[in-house]
Parts: sequence; C-alpha cells; structure tokens
Amino acid sequence: MNLPLWSAVDDYWTTKLHDPDDALDTASAASAAEGLPPIAVTAPQGKFLYLLARATGARRILEVGTLGGYSTIWLARALPSDGELVTCEVDPHHAEVAAANMARAGLDKVVDVRVGPARDTLASLEGPFDFAFVDADKTSSAEYFRECIRLVRPGGVIVVDNVVREGTILDSGSTDGSVMGTWRLADAIASEPGVDATVVQTVGSKGYDGFVMAVVR
Ligand code: SAH
Ligand code: DHB
Ligand code: MG
Repeated sequence: MNLPLWSAVDDYWTTKLHDPDDALDTASAASAAEGLPPIAVTAPQGKFLYLLARATGARRILEVGTLGGYSTIWLARALPSDGELVTCEVDPHHAEVAAANMARAGLDKVVDVRVGPARDTLASLEGPFDFAFVDADKTSSAEYFRECIRLVRPGGVIVVDNVVREGTILDSGSTDGSVMGTWRLADAIASEPGVDATVVQTVGSKGYDGFVMAVVR
C-alpha cells in the first residue's frame, strides 16, 4: 500500500514547512550509494521526532536502530550543544556510513554510534535519557521498550516505529516475526504501569504504518 497521493502530500508539506537541507540530503544520498535499504523515516516523520524531542527539552537521547543516521540527524538537532545521543546499530557497515554522515552533518561530537546487538548495548547503558526512539529489528521491540523504560526519566518520551505495518498486525494468524514482535510490544506496553501510551497511525511516502508514543510516569 503506497498511494501516490500520500507521497504528493508529504512533498507538499515538506516544501511548505522544511528548509532546504544539505546534511539530510547528503546523508540520504550517501546511504543509498552505500547500498543501505531505503527504510529511514520520511522527512515529515523525522521533523516530527525532532519537534517532539525539542518539546521534551531533551539533553540526552537514545536511539535503537541507526541505519545511515537519517533519523539520528533529525534527533541530534533537537539537542543543546552539550547534549548527547547514543544510537545502537548491529551492522558495522551501516554504523560506518552513519558515522561519516554524522561527521558531514557536524554532529560527530554529539552522536555516539555504538556497534553491536542493541540488547547488549542497552544493558550496558545507564540513564537518565530524556527521549528514546526504537526502530531496529521489530522482533525485539518489546525488549527494547522495556529497556527504554529503565533508561528514560519520568516525563520522558519513548517512540517506537513501524507498529501498524499496513494493518497486518490485525491478521491474528500471522506468523511474520515483525507482526508477532509488535503483538509482544503491545502486550508489554499494556501490562506496564510505568507508561501512558497511544498510537499515531501514519501514511506518506513510506506507505501505511505508525508510531507508538509513550510518556514515562
Ligand atoms: N532509524 C533509522 C532506520 C533504522 S532501520 C532511520 O529512520 O533513519 C533499522 C536498523 O536497525 C538497521 O540499520 C539494522 O541493521 C538495525 N538493527 C537490526 N537489528 C539490530 C539489533 N539487534 N541491534 C541493533 N541494530 C539492529
Ligand atoms: C523496515 C524497517 C523500518 O524501520 C522501517 O521503518 C520500514 C521497513 C524493514 O526492515 O523492512
Ligand atoms: Mg522504522
């Protein structure tokens, strides 16, 4: 599902509300040239994450799933100059491309790309973080979410990407690992007294999907 209309509307609002952005364009182009899959958040989604992190007054941000660092650039820009963003990436090539993109964007002092399975990196981290964005392997989103609850301060925000999956999460017989991972995430959030959460369904140039947004109590 990916209506041309959805992309056209993304283009309309991006043209209206976003400044031309060499760092983001260069990061996207470099990621494509290096063979990374085209699965980064869209520009409006990136700006949404940036605005949320800014509104939270974030000084420390955690990201799970870096890819080429497109969402990382958006999020890091919400930070003050002495802020910090830790981003977890299992694929060394993705991490290398992301590190180069951070340097070109002038964000390499703020962003720390940690290479390795996110479970190990998360277990080694200490809070408090103000904001977390979970966007790695969907099979483990529930575990990443639980770690984020440990690491994010009360009043902080946790966003999880790709929780609607073109509505396939409603196929109760699904054996898809990402769908099953999303069910486990939903159960984990529903049984977690430590957060208030909801879903934001999205359409756009990446099709039909959605975010979970949670605030830590
Ligand atoms: N947040 C990025 C997109 C991330 S795509 C953006 O919007 O720009 C998902 C990334 O998670 C991929 O780069 C993939 O290699 C990484 N990933 C997959 N499994 C992982 C794991 N177990 N630990 C850390 N990263 C993982
Ligand atoms: C995929 C991963 C993502 O994080 C996303 O936003 C879209 C697609 C994927 O692995 O296919
Ligand atoms: Mg995603």
